[in-house]
Amino acid sequence: MCGIVGILGRSDVAERLVNGLKRLEYRGYDSAGIAVVNGKSVDVRRAVGKLDNLTSALATDAPEGWVGIGHTRWATHGAATQTNAHPHKVGLVTLVHNGIIENHADLRSELETLGVHLSSETDTEVAAAWLNHLLGRSKTLDDAFQKLLDKLVGSYALAVVFEGYPELIFVARQGSPLAIGYGQPDADGSMEVFVGSDALALAPFTDQVSYLEDGDWAAIHSDRVEIFNRNGAKIARDVLTIAAQDFVVDKGPWPHYMRKEIEEQPDSLSRLLGTLVDSGAANLKPCLEGIDFAKADRIVLLACGTAHYACHLASYWIEDIARIPVEIDLASEYRYRNRPLTGREIVIAVSQSGETADTLSALTALADQVAARLAVVNVPTSSIARVSDAILNIQAGPEIGVASTKAFTGQLMALMALALKAGRDRGVLSEDRLGALVTELTSVPRIVGDTLRLAPEIDALARRLAPASDIYFLGRDVNYPLALEAALKMKEISYIHAEAYAAGELKHGPIALVEDGTPVIIFENPGELNEKTASNAAEVAARGADLVTIGPSKNCALRTTAVGPIATTFSYAVVAQLLAYFVAVAKGTDVDQPRNLAKSVTVE
Ligand code: F6R
Repeated sequence: MCGIVGILGRSDVAERLVNGLKRLEYRGYDSAGIAVVNGKSVDVRRAVGKLDNLTSALATDAPEGWVGIGHTRWATHGAATQTNAHPHKVGLVTLVHNGIIENHADLRSELETLGVHLSSETDTEVAAAWLNHLLGRSKTLDDAFQKLLDKLVGSYALAVVFEGYPELIFVARQGSPLAIGYGQPDADGSMEVFVGSDALALAPFTDQVSYLEDGDWAAIHSDRVEIFNRNGAKIARDVLTIAAQDFVVDKGPWPHYMRKEIEEQPDSLSRLLGTLVDSGAANLKPCLEGIDFAKADRIVLLACGTAHYACHLASYWIEDIARIPVEIDLASEYRYRNRPLTGREIVIAVSQSGETADTLSALTALADQVAARLAVVNVPTSSIARVSDAILNIQAGPEIGVASTKAFTGQLMALMALALKAGRDRGVLSEDRLGALVTELTSVPRIVGDTLRLAPEIDALARRLAPASDIYFLGRDVNYPLALEAALKMKEISYIHAEAYAAGELKHGPIALVEDGTPVIIFENPGELNEKTASNAAEVAARGADLVTIGPSKNCALRTTAVGPIATTFSYAVVAQLLAYFVAVAKGTDVDQPRNLAKSVTVE
């Protein structure tokens, strides 16, 4: 949450800062701002709302200067107002921040006793004011910054510029990601240096990137970058070359990133499939060779939001195929549970961004306590990937729409491959069944392509549902977590109250909500469970529900292709995505940047 950029450049930076922020806007869009160092002063510009408001304000009057920092905000402390927008300037210090400073109230009271009064409600201005205060009590800037970091409790990525120091940016990382990008060095060894919350922000400027580790801080000068760890020791962090493919970010012919990302799924899934299976031999390719599921007594799947629903759904597959108990939990709950561990668990953290604070903390806390920690991520250089013993990259490419789509299906495919590997490692999956499952998995990109062709019908259905105030989704077995994901997609982008229930649970309470005309959407189960689901459909229809059945049967309102159960799951996932998308479009909501949300949840 919140995006940070910084540039220590050789030409004006205002426009480039805004370009970097554009690529980070998915992290928050409550306000945006930049600060540019101009000679001895620092020029701060801020605007409430989307980045476009800042861009318009700068169009006729951009600040000049070669060094600057920028921020796009997702409000935590204090409403989305101009006063609370970053950068925050106090005395000589101008600072941007991503994260939450947990002891901000104590630090604010201490400042008040010192006679320092702040203008905003933010935790960030507290940090700026403390740094300004410490400058007067320290021998060097480095000293003052180190003292500030010692005072802060919580999570932060910080970037700071100073009045009177025209060629300097300080940055720090604790719990919130921060990358440093290096430009082409000149003959004298000096170069442009860039700072960003992720490599995506740095893409227009460089592909040479270092990631700070927790506790690191850095002083960026025009001729050198000095990085220190939490003990103050000077250290080097590897410089990685980031693949160009990671950086392609545009909508193509589509009106929204979300639609483009939904439509990309046949490609993203084919790409992933190519790394996971040998379709000719109907077998798995070697993967995660160092991980042996035969030695595990349990698999623990940790994630948040959509990624959690991918885990929930995959838990059915893993238990069925690998015959091993699977525990799933929301990372935000798991991290505070006093859970018994045997040390033989294989923990799998699933995260598109690889930066979700709760997932990262839950995984980090398990170091040395479990047999292995795997990450299923879309960003192989992310924090979650870097603390894991092994990673499985879903290779979906940048997902910019706030609602996760292609990452969800990529996570499902990766988790299915893990189920197959676990079944084989444990000797419980016959060659025949493995071959059949791989063959079915291989058909998924094609089936997803077929489902995408249902868009006009789904659009028509969506227009009918758009005026609803509540929508219920029902499913059994894997269709239950799928229904949960369908409801999440619907509520986050259409703002319609949507809930999902296990179809068999309906009579235990939720059916009381069904009235004449209440939309109830049911995913048909291929196979023997279908009769049970059909009874549940009849029960809601008898109470006046506006019933929408989805599945391959000829009496379904929306007919999908009749295929095996795995391919059906992917097909339903795409139907759910398109349905939410078209309802949101019909309602005219901001599909790619829905209210109150941000793509990467880097605070608790
Ligand atoms: C919903 C959505 C969120 C994310 C969740 C976890 O459409 O995108 O629920 O799935 O915030 O994010 P990652 O996968 O980045 O850990």
